[in-house]
Amino acid sequence: MPSFVSMEPTTQYELRLAHRMSRLGTETAFEVLNKARALERQGKKIIHLEIGEPDFDTPANVIEAAVTALHKGWTHYGPSAGLPELRQAIAEEVSRTRAVECSSDEVVVVPGGKPIIFFTILSLIDAGDEVIYPNPGFPIYESMINYIGGKAIPIRLREERDFGLDVRELGSLINDRTKLIIINSPQNPTGGVLSKKDIHDIADAIGDRNILVLSDEIYSRLIFDGQHYSIMSVPGFKERTILLDGFSKTYAMTGWRMGYGVMRPDLATQITRLMTNSNSCTASFTQVAGIEALRGDQSSVDDMRNQFQERRDVFVAGLSKIKGFSCRMPKGAFYVFPNIQKTGWKSKRLADALLEEAGVACLSGTSFGDFGEGYLRFSVANSLENLKQALEQISDWTKRSPA
Ligand SMILES: Cc1ncc(COP(=O)(O)O)c(C=O)c1O
Repeated sequence: MPSFVSMEPTTQYELRLAHRMSRLGTETAFEVLNKARALERQGKKIIHLEIGEPDFDTPANVIEAAVTALHKGWTHYGPSAGLPELRQAIAEEVSRTRAVECSSDEVVVVPGGKPIIFFTILSLIDAGDEVIYPNPGFPIYESMINYIGGKAIPIRLREERDFGLDVRELGSLINDRTKLIIINSPQNPTGGVLSKKDIHDIADAIGDRNILVLSDEIYSRLIFDGQHYSIMSVPGFKERTILLDGFSKTYAMTGWRMGYGVMRPDLATQITRLMTNSNSCTASFTQVAGIEALRGDQSSVDDMRNQFQERRDVFVAGLSKIKGFSCRMPKGAFYVFPNIQKTGWKSKRLADALLEEAGVACLSGTSFGDFGEGYLRFSVANSLENLKQALEQISDWTKRSPA
């Protein structure tokens, strides 16, 4: 292990971390990636199906816009809430796609989708406040709720409901301490998509209570079957919704770090204060490129989605033929979440074995919460050739491995 990551004490002074740091979780994908890279350094070949990012390049028109912006001097601080023209472009995009009138003062641009999760929880949740969140789900929800001292209340996503939730169960979890409900569609890690009916059922369960909904719609443009529907579109819910969306997945811009939240203006002002205190602003030239991403040619978005769909079809069909694996057809995002209970293996052990012995990196369902036991997550953001090769290696491994 290189010395810069050594946990050995290097000084006589004990590191006295704040207690809350012990409550901070993580995103296992990055740990598995590091482990896979270490195996590669030892000469092993690994097929990477662990990381949730498009393998495509950012569309050329967006890169061009950023380069031009740099040459034109977009290298300075900008307003904390984002460049007015980008906020306007986002407001128009959201008004069009969610069929609800949005204005630019409801938009806050931040470095990625993640800060909207962080800032929403930071600005709304006091110790003991309850936050309901999907499980299995994006691990940062649970991590941030715990970090802030809120009470994390999981709502189980059920395979038999195509990884939707049981609204009666949701209803039974809501009480006077519930301050925020997090929903995510299309969903990471299951690929589940909430239908218009599902969303209306969730809205009915919330009723007219003063509970806010953080609706994580970062995969809104990656839907294969059906149409995206936001709780923001439900009458009476716009004021209670914090919409999270961004550029990372839609435009293959994960490394650019740009996302946004759309919310009532009084909350937008508070989230902007957190931006001023943390990042000052999102990088100015990336925001100029963001305007081009939203307003320019969208054909690469459709092309990427079509390719993900083809890969999904091939991968699901292949996995379903492997002994012990069964797999629902994900309706969105770029993940496949097979049930592996019949292999007789626990998820984490199986994910480790597939990495070390089959040369395929994937994630244990438990990386997404306790209710992920019995599942694995594969990202199909890799070439068809590599996906087919991975299927072959997993299949060969299951034939020679102990049950
Ligand atoms: C459900 C979900 N929300 C938010 C994010 C964060 O996106 P970003 O990379 O833009 O911060 C991710 C990234 O994997 C995600 O899967």
